[in-house]
Amino acid sequence: MTGVLGREFTFSDRQFKRLRAFVAEQTGIALSEAKKDMVYGRLSKRIRSHFGGNFQAFCDAIENGDAQEQDFLINAITTNLTAFFREAHHFDYLRQRLIPDLMRRNADSRKIRIWSAGCSTGEEPYSIAMCLAAQQQLADWDIKILATDLDANVIEHAEAGIYSEERLSKLPEKELQWFKRGRGANTGLVRLKPEIRNRVSFKRLNLLHDWPMHGPFDLIFCRNVVIYFDKTTQTQLFERFADLLVADGHLFIGHSETLYKVTDRFTSLGNTIYRRLN
Ligand SMILES: C[S@@+](CC[C@H](N)C(=O)[O-])C[C@H]1O[C@@H](n2cnc3c(N)ncnc32)[C@H](O)[C@@H]1O
Repeated sequence: MTGVLGREFTFSDRQFKRLRAFVAEQTGIALSEAKKDMVYGRLSKRIRSHFGGNFQAFCDAIENGDAQEQDFLINAITTNLTAFFREAHHFDYLRQRLIPDLMRRNADSRKIRIWSAGCSTGEEPYSIAMCLAAQQQLADWDIKILATDLDANVIEHAEAGIYSEERLSKLPEKELQWFKRGRGANTGLVRLKPEIRNRVSFKRLNLLHDWPMHGPFDLIFCRNVVIYFDKTTQTQLFERFADLLVADGHLFIGHSETLYKVTDRFTSLGNTIYRRLN
């Protein structure tokens, strides 16, 4: 049965504000008024099954520190849209400019360190790994790709390295070599081959909290993550990235994001690619 606003359960403005405050504090995501329906839609099944349709009880659980419900809320709110080789120009730049540069610059250490911050289900760090794996001369280099996300569910999915075959439909033919097609009960699924899977370490990490790693990283990808963060949170985050990059290290951000008037620690190279300034 639906209520006056077409909703099955009452979800008041005050309850929305309580959840919004928690989400902003924990994730940096600033939900606008317009997101109330989206929040209702993503939570209503849980409110029915765990709280007898009572949003108030759910808000209380969140504020009283119920870790399971807090995780549920965060996982439900984050938007995990991603794809292999999303924003293909970034991967062209990586292959054509940055990998050859790193091979020259790091020739003594033979080490490369990359961080995919806000990696969702893993397509982004695995695409980076594929670009590196294609370069035969790097075969015996010490290469580590760290991939982190706030959402425990996407990290679990990413670690498994199993995707539906449809996710590969737009991939260039040469990238299909890194996947093994499932048979029998696994028809329609693909699994990443170990040479790609093993190059990436996944960890759950909230970008707004302390970071256990010290870097330095040669490259950081943080694409389509800060889009809902307020400007102050963005500035703090990008400046922390600058501190963790090598001198001249590169930062990739999403197509609708910018560092303009957010931080002056980077110079723009165009196409939402930035280089750290010293
Ligand atoms: C839209 S996806 C972007 C995935 C990938 N970077 C891309 O561009 O295809 C955004 C990801 O950022 C994560 N995220 C949002 N807020 C975060 C935070 N405070 N700390 C870490 N990850 C966060 C979400 O869980 C989500 O998986």
